[in-house]
Amino acid sequence: MTAQQRQRGLNFRFWRSDLAVDFGTTNTLIYMPRRGIVLQEPSVVAMRGNAVVAVGKKAERMLGRTPGGIRAVKPLQSGVIADYDLARKMLERFISRVIRRFPFFKLRLIVTVPSGTTQVERRAVLSAGKRCGIKEVYLIEEPIAAAIGTGRPVAEPRGNFIINCGGGLTEIAVISLGGIVLASSLRQGGETINAIIQRYLFRRYRMEVGLSIIEEAKRRAGYAIDPPPDLTYNFKGINLHRRGPGALEIKAEELTEAIEPVLSAIAEAARNIFEQIPPQLAADVMSDGIVLAGGAALLHNFDLYLSRKLNLPVHRAEDPYTCAVRGASEAINYMDRLVLHS
Ligand SMILES: Nc1ncnc2c1ncn2[C@@H]1O[C@H](COP(=O)(O)OP(=O)(O)O)[C@@H](O)[C@H]1O
Ligand SMILES: [Mg+2]
Repeated sequence: MTAQQRQRGLNFRFWRSDLAVDFGTTNTLIYMPRRGIVLQEPSVVAMRGNAVVAVGKKAERMLGRTPGGIRAVKPLQSGVIADYDLARKMLERFISRVIRRFPFFKLRLIVTVPSGTTQVERRAVLSAGKRCGIKEVYLIEEPIAAAIGTGRPVAEPRGNFIINCGGGLTEIAVISLGGIVLASSLRQGGETINAIIQRYLFRRYRMEVGLSIIEEAKRRAGYAIDPPPDLTYNFKGINLHRRGPGALEIKAEELTEAIEPVLSAIAEAARNIFEQIPPQLAADVMSDGIVLAGGAALLHNFDLYLSRKLNLPVHRAEDPYTCAVRGASEAINYMDRLVLHS
């Protein structure tokens, strides 16, 4: 590298920087090239009246245990923006947190949105970026971003089948030539899995268990299929029979059975999409397989479950949690070949 090239490199770094945001129902992630993930926070806002008191982790701790006058809310629900104004405020807070430390002159921002978002929702996201003083703001559909993040050749004429399973929303999409050929989404995901486990413990054992414990149990002992026969989880909660604190040892097999309805709904939706795709693209999917991304893809053996149900190869993305934000960051470099909105 010559001195001149080095100089140019430095200039480039100073003048232009990209910020990719995965604006999810459960988590918001911000990624910067060369720096990696610079922010990872729950998508939660704490409010007093109309004023934002806290966002992210601090606000999440207030969920369900707020003192008088403060309420903690999730502005995105089931992957759609339930409260535009709040979603915009939250996004502004997150962005300003990372750009305050990196005062670049020219900043490009790319934000992932669910594939079915309306114009109004898109405008809310765009205006959040613009209010932070960023002139170039782009939106990318989350399944496309996730597919790029897994290294799929989405810009080529080849059928890429992706299932992005987040907290409140699962998106199923077939992508070819940089665009979505077919897609569907269902309001099921990691949070629905937690809710069904919670309901199961309540109905079957009259145990009331908090969601953070259920989340931990799912990560340790939650299996989509083939749970280890000896694996158990010791739940702590309120026993409603005895009206007091109690513990309950549950076999992993029982959890597998309890969560089946959520998983089979996802498999069913994926089968529906597969049946509708043109034969040429279907042949691509049969040989390349389906890629499984999103935080809920981390459920043990979820890939195996889907592949048995669908009779197709299913591969879990290497880092399913971050592939959408990494993919969005990469996409900004070949915007001309992708369908983007700004
Ligand atoms: N190890 C794990 N096993 C099972 N589910 C997990 C694991 N880690 C995270 N999840 C689930 O991932 C979901 C969040 O995924 P994410 O892609 O961040 O969602 P979103 O895009 O909706 O914000 C949560 O519901 C969480 O329960
Ligand atoms: Mg997501």
